[in-house]
Amino acid sequence: MKPEVSPGLEDIIADTSSICSVEHETGLIYRGYSIEDLSENATFEEVAYLLIFGKLPDHKGLEDFISRLSQERPVPEDILHIIRRLPRTSNIMDVLRSAVSILALYDPDVADNSHDANIRKAIRLITSIPTVITSIYRILHGKEPIHPDPKLSHTQNFFYMLNGDIPEDFIAKALNVSLILYAEHEFNASTFSARVTASTLSDMHSAITSAIGTLKGSLHGGANERVMQMLLNIGESSKAEVWIKDALARKERIPGFGHRVYKKGDFRSDIIKRYSRELEERSDQTEWYKISCIIEDVMSKEKGLYPNLDFYSASAFYLMGIPIELFTPVFVAGRITGWTAHVIEQHENNRLIRPRCLYTGQRGLKYHKPEQKHNKTTEGHG
Ligand SMILES: CC(C)(COP(=O)(O)OP(=O)(O)OC[C@H]1O[C@@H](n2cnc3c(N)ncnc32)[C@H](O)[C@@H]1OP(=O)(O)O)[C@@H](O)C(=O)NCCC(=O)NCCS
Repeated sequence: MKPEVSPGLEDIIADTSSICSVEHETGLIYRGYSIEDLSENATFEEVAYLLIFGKLPDHKGLEDFISRLSQERPVPEDILHIIRRLPRTSNIMDVLRSAVSILALYDPDVADNSHDANIRKAIRLITSIPTVITSIYRILHGKEPIHPDPKLSHTQNFFYMLNGDIPEDFIAKALNVSLILYAEHEFNASTFSARVTASTLSDMHSAITSAIGTLKGSLHGGANERVMQMLLNIGESSKAEVWIKDALARKERIPGFGHRVYKKGDFRSDIIKRYSRELEERSDQTEWYKISCIIEDVMSKEKGLYPNLDFYSASAFYLMGIPIELFTPVFVAGRITGWTAHVIEQHENNRLIRPRCLYTGQRGLKYHKPEQKHNKTTEGHG
């Protein structure tokens, strides 16, 4: 009997996990807590703690955790020197992937895969990745990095290191919500690639480097940047309906729509949509949310497809003042919590991930040495 093949591992349950679940009836949960509850009431720091330690911190635990994040937030000067030598035209995701690889060389626990060392490495990565992202952005734009301020929260520091300003409370709250929504999503492609790397007993930084490379693609984390480029191309709400219908007639994929798991809509989309609307109400840019709503309407009527998290994140990020080339790196700044939690879980109960394939190539061919061709002009000489 022919074995069953599932291209893209669609609907395959590859392992168990106690980190996150997409529950079709009740929604998305992180370690038992609903995403609505966490995004509305928790800080990113608390959710990061929840994901890597498995439970929410008590008051003292949270204070200690925030203080550790603060101590580990600056990155080694050497990394900044290396970034300064890179081409100014570099893609930020490429630099970020390389920078995480270099961070490994400065991590005292790099080769230690024990639980405690993995937790220490996870904390360093969670807190230093926004420092790396904002430093790369500033250096590639000819500016000097801004050192983190230990008095500011994780999300406040992101904006502070990006442009030197402490953001308004609502902007910091919107980024907090966004990082929580992006934090974890069970066996998505980038998390799975991190787990594949970790399953060979390779180290945390190698796994995260694999994950960043996987997230970069336009079918995964790269979609949020493509959504904003589409909104800018459309330009005004009066053109949105025709623009999308034309794109669909050309059989184009519309970024920010569809999902491998959510076929009736992404639980996270409604949450970020509310923030996108409120950010627009507070700003003088009134088109991006409006265009997005028209696209959502057309996609639902014409294709029966719903927005995923990346769709309204694009307008929300833009209205928060985040540059488009940082949209996918900001996804990394959220998902690093989930990735590191999965590497910890994989190392704790490891089994090498090594699936099979169904061979469809030729069989029974016979090897022949390639015939030597004689060059007539040189024949007979020497
Ligand atoms: C995410 C994605 C890769 C999931 O893909 P998938 O589960 O493999 O679904 P499929 O590619 O099999 O698509 C099923 C059908 O919907 C269509 N479809 C899926 N997403 C679409 C989109 N964004 N725009 C237009 N059509 C889309 C496909 O063309 C296909 O139609 P067909 O059956 O007529 O050929 C896909 O929806 C996509 O490319 N989305 C855009 C990129 C994006 O937003 N990525 C972020 C994901 S969180």
